[in-house]
Amino acid sequence: MNQELSIVILAAGKGSRMKSPKAKVLHTISGKPMIYHSVKAALELTDDVIVVVAHQKEAVTEAISSEFDNITFIEQDTENFPGTGGAVMGIEPRYEKVLVLNGDMPLITADALHGFVESKSNIVMSIFNLVDPSGYGRVVIGRHGVERIVEQKDATQEELAITYVNAGIYSFKRSVLEKYVPRLSSDNAQKEYYLTDVIALAKADGINIEPLEVDEEHFKGVNSKLDLANAEEIMQDRIRNRWMNEGIIMQLPHTIYIEAGVEFEGECIVENGARICGNSRIVSSHIKAHSVVEDSTMVNSDIGPMGHLRPLSHLTDTHVGNFVEVKKATLDGVKAGHLSYIGDAEVGRGTNIGAGVITCNYDGIRKHKTVIGKNVFVGSDTQIIAPCTIEDDVMVGAGTTLASDRVKSGVLVLSRPKLKVIENFFYKFFGKEN
Ligand code: UD1
Ligand code: MG
Repeated sequence: MNQELSIVILAAGKGSRMKSPKAKVLHTISGKPMIYHSVKAALELTDDVIVVVAHQKEAVTEAISSEFDNITFIEQDTENFPGTGGAVMGIEPRYEKVLVLNGDMPLITADALHGFVESKSNIVMSIFNLVDPSGYGRVVIGRHGVERIVEQKDATQEELAITYVNAGIYSFKRSVLEKYVPRLSSDNAQKEYYLTDVIALAKADGINIEPLEVDEEHFKGVNSKLDLANAEEIMQDRIRNRWMNEGIIMQLPHTIYIEAGVEFEGECIVENGARICGNSRIVSSHIKAHSVVEDSTMVNSDIGPMGHLRPLSHLTDTHVGNFVEVKKATLDGVKAGHLSYIGDAEVGRGTNIGAGVITCNYDGIRKHKTVIGKNVFVGSDTQIIAPCTIEDDVMVGAGTTLASDRVKSGVLVLSRPKLKVIENFFYKFFGKEN
């Protein structure tokens, strides 16, 4: 924690290049809005984090407040003062040094920001050298160092050829911002107030600008859906590498998707094509190929191949096989090997769910609960019409439509139409001789 530092995150822009009705900073990377990742990194460095909002401000504020406390929100007057310069006009940082982050840089980490935190310069700006600099502001470097930043839309052909670009993170002495931000103008191609123009204004007064060369892996800006997908690849690599280092076995890791809120414990195996989302917690379990686990817990259990745990499922000592869907259900010591739907249910230890069993939890208006006790054998292709409680030690015959609120312990229950056999029907029907 650095008590000398305030961090301002710019999140007021529309992000029109995303071509989306959703504000840019709300697009997700590994299951969390982009802005979540930069706020998280910022909070590791300081207790004074200011987020500038305007476009879809309620949604942006809500997305941040639902995850973090103690964030200061400032609304930008985008009507009169659009642009990244306009964004910093209303801020009141608590500390002498102000780090400004663009909200569209989800790959940033607290470690990657150390160069800015440690520097004593009046202005530090992040630059990188790119083979393809398109989209970024170009950094004009003269004999006496950094001179100015020119935005792509304002650049001459010569300036467009510059491959040093502004990564979009800066640290300023608070007094520098106080002096130069009010002097910004919007006399440019986008008719916006550019924060980047502070560089040229300060330089003209003889203030030295420290360039800090940074890596694209942490400082990449997301402006389009292609950038979003590329940033996701980088974030997924980090998440998978972290968990493999913690002892998780992954087969073909590049095919596995794991969201930022997922936690593993003990030795787990994750096979190719698995997708693990939300705040899932996986303990000493095996997720087989192409299974999906959403906001669920698995303890000493296995699922798949091609199993699906929908939100609020809890598996302990349980086997869930292929094409089984579980939703909002607690399975404790259960086997459900094939082709089932178990929703809004509780199932007890030693119970076997046969192939094709379905909990009919929805009556067209409301959802109802199914409770299945211990050591119950539910025969294949049974439909349990909820609400229904099956007590311990029950057998349900295959093909049963179980329309009963309660089945008492110890019984066999089955509904089965009488078998009809019509001799020689096949031969008559197709006009063949027997
Ligand atoms: C900006 C920089 C550019 C740099 C690039 C790095 C400026 C003028 N240009 O360009 O030099 O290479 O980042 O990624 O700063 N925002 C506001 N209010 C606004 C406009 C934007 O808060 O009125 C926020 C956005 O929500 C976004 C960030 O500022 O998080 C950057 O805005 P964006 O429009 O993406 O700027 P770039 O064109 O990428
Ligand atoms: Mg940008």
